[in-house]
Amino acid sequence: MLLALLGACQSYAQDQFDQLCVGCHGNQANGGKGGSLLGPLKHGDDHAAILRAIRDGYPELGMPTFQHLSEGKLHILVVRILEMRADGPKPPPVQPLDQQLVRHGEGHSYRIEALVSDGLEVPWSFDFLPDGRIILTERAGRVRLIENGKLVPAPVEGVPPVIEKGEGGLMAVAVHPDFAHTRWIYLSLSDPGEGDRAMTKIVRGKLNGNRLTDMETVFALPKGKYPPGYVLFGSRIVFDGDYVFFSIGERDVKGAAQRLDVPFGKIHRTFHDGTIPPDNPFVGQPGAIGSIWAYGIRNPQGLALNPLTHEIWEAEHGPRGGDELNRVEKGKNYGWPLITYGMNYDGTPVSDRTAAPGMEQPVRHWTPSIATSQVAVYSGNKFPHWYQNVFVGSLAQQKLIRFEMKDGKVAHEELLFTNLGRIRDIKTGPDGLIYIALEQLNGASGWLVRLVPADGT
Ligand code: HEC
Repeated sequence: MLLALLGACQSYAQDQFDQLCVGCHGNQANGGKGGSLLGPLKHGDDHAAILRAIRDGYPELGMPTFQHLSEGKLHILVVRILEMRADGPKPPPVQPLDQQLVRHGEGHSYRIEALVSDGLEVPWSFDFLPDGRIILTERAGRVRLIENGKLVPAPVEGVPPVIEKGEGGLMAVAVHPDFAHTRWIYLSLSDPGEGDRAMTKIVRGKLNGNRLTDMETVFALPKGKYPPGYVLFGSRIVFDGDYVFFSIGERDVKGAAQRLDVPFGKIHRTFHDGTIPPDNPFVGQPGAIGSIWAYGIRNPQGLALNPLTHEIWEAEHGPRGGDELNRVEKGKNYGWPLITYGMNYDGTPVSDRTAAPGMEQPVRHWTPSIATSQVAVYSGNKFPHWYQNVFVGSLAQQKLIRFEMKDGKVAHEELLFTNLGRIRDIKTGPDGLIYIALEQLNGASGWLVRLVPADGT
């Protein structure tokens, strides 16, 4: 009787943890975006400190408050964490990468080959230079070059300061379509403001040797308008002809994604120098920000162009559940937070609606969240059966998913692999191979890998 009661208590506590915490702290409390709760704790590791962390949270760092929970519930969560800590740290579910292993996808077999497997912190994004080099960002604020398949030891100089805190840091890198003449490199970053404020900023600089020069701002807010905290920055950069598209997250400013007078929770479109195209959808509307192309978006860490059809694909983190893949069109409203398939991290509703007139439905949504990161449209010639397929990567669930689309809807979906690390970026290389940046957990180096066909083996 006593044993049954004890068992029931433990599973109830685990249940609460599973419901409220695993999305950010991982199945075994061994970490995800919220960090491991098994190793040393930043804010103290006794009962009172853990209770305080859960009840009051660190909203500006991405840890929500759970003030509405009864003292009893807070207590069992603390006890459960302390029990899990006593069990000792468990290795994360990352498998070592076997580069010889032939993996079988539908239509193609392939191997995963590592280009860079050492010396990278959290790789966030990369792009290809016309001379064969690869340019890559590390979230901590470094731009790196990969030349002849080797990581150049010295980081690129001249990168503006970034604040790496919460979800912030150096994010996207994109090479100007006419780089050979212009030498422009575009970056998106979390720009530090006054006090605990920060904001996504889009800049460009000319790559000369190992240095960015002639830095210019493509998009920024005045510092006085930076919102507090360090979450929901976005951000990606994509070129299409004379235009550059970039994504900016909601920054946890409630309701902002629906307002046209603030840039948060939007996809933006400008000319390459940041000026506003006169045919943007909200140009001329009083109070509206002219660069807005689409709105109602939460945290768009994925953005890609289909170079053939010029469709723009966007992937965004939902709250708890409700991650989305969207096909973004001019002037449309993607609904956040008025419609969503997710709920708040504390288990309370964001909205009672998942659909509404005048708001777009996602092409695919995920509950529980897989933590969608980058999206890419495969446009190379090495995997002909996957030509024009949409690939989505995920952080927490470490998945690479392939979609065949028909008329903007999912016709078929395949999970290609999982558990090789958090997927940060995906792009088609000029050689037709599929390149992926992986963030390994527990401080191991980030990787840059590529999928190489192994058909007929
Ligand atoms: C939305 C994501 C998210 C959710 C949900 C979440 N956390 Fe956190 N948590 C974080 C982040 C991010 C931090 C790190 C804050 C920082 O950098 O100091 C954190 C920090 C903590 C800490 C302090 C860790 C330390 O190093 O001192 C504790 C304890 C904690 N979380 C417990 C919980 C519990 C228990 C739950 C469920 C009731 C929970 N968290 C749910 C994101 C989350």
